[in-house]
Amino acid sequence: MHSSSLNKKVAIVTGASSGLGKAVCEQLADHGVHVFALARTIHETQLPSEVTKVPLNIRDLQSIDDAFHSIDQATSQIDILVNCAGRGLVKQLETTTRQEIMDLFGVNLKGNIYIAQEVYKRMIPRRQGHIINVSSTSGLKARADEPIYCATKWGLRGFTESLRLAAAAHQIRVSGVYPGGMQTNFWKGGEPRDTSKFMNPQQVAAEIIHLLHTPTTLAPSEYVIERGV
Ligand SMILES: NC(=O)c1ccc[n+]([C@@H]2O[C@H](COP(=O)([O-])OP(=O)(O)OC[C@H]3O[C@@H](n4cnc5c(N)ncnc54)[C@H](OP(=O)(O)O)[C@@H]3O)[C@@H](O)[C@H]2O)c1
Repeated sequence: MHSSSLNKKVAIVTGASSGLGKAVCEQLADHGVHVFALARTIHETQLPSEVTKVPLNIRDLQSIDDAFHSIDQATSQIDILVNCAGRGLVKQLETTTRQEIMDLFGVNLKGNIYIAQEVYKRMIPRRQGHIINVSSTSGLKARADEPIYCATKWGLRGFTESLRLAAAAHQIRVSGVYPGGMQTNFWKGGEPRDTSKFMNPQQVAAEIIHLLHTPTTLAPSEYVIERGV
C-alpha cells in the first residue's frame, strides 16, 4: 500500500540504464509509479521487476517512434517525463571532431527535445503532466574545457524554459534540473577527473522525486543541485 501522491502515476525516464536515470527509475518504482525505462542497453540493466524496459537509441528517429509505439500500446496515461539521457565531452574545440559535435547535440539536445515533444503531445489532451529535463551546472556556467557539452546544456535550458512558458496554458509543468558533478559512468572513458567529492546520483534522484511532489500550482524552473559540505 503506497501513501505517496505519486502512487499509480505513469512515468517515462530516459537514460534509465545508468547513473541518475537508473536511480530515478528505482525511486519512482518505490513510490508506486509505473515506470517506462528507456535506454539503448536497458535489457542488460537490473531494475525493479515492475519497471517496463523499452530499448531506445535517442539518436535514431525510428527507434524513438518504435519506443512510443510500444508505450502507446501499453497506456494512454503519461504523467511524468524525466529526461536523463546525456553524455559528456571534456575536450578543447580545436581537437573535437564534427562527429563528436553531432553525437553530443544528437543526444543531449535534439534527443531530449524529440522525447519531450512526444510526451508533451500526449499530455496536452489530458491537461496535466510534469516534464523534467536534466541539464547541468554546465548549462548555467561556462567551462573552458567543455565548450560543446556546455553548448548542448545551455541549449537544453533555453528549450526547457521556453516550453515551461508555453506548457502552462495546457496545465503542464516543465522544470529544468541543474546538477553539479555526480559519481556515475558519465566520467568513465574520458579525461581522468577526481570525482571523489562528486554527489551520489541517488541523492540527486531523491531531489527529483521531491520536485515531482511540489503542488501542481508551482513549477520550479531552474533547480540547481550542488554538493553541500
Ligand atoms: N555525472 C555528472 O557529473 C553530471 C553532472 C551534471 C549533469 N549530468 C547529466 O545528468 C544526466 C545523467 O547522466 P549520468 O551521470 O547519470 O550519466 P551515465 O551514468 O553515463 O548515464 C547516461 C545515460 O544516457 C543514456 N544514453 C546515452 N546515449 C544514449 C543514446 N544514444 N540513446 C539513448 N540513451 C542514451 C545511457 O544509456 P545507454 O548507454 O544504455 O543508451 C545512460 O542510461 C545527463 O544528462 C548528464 O549530462 C551529469
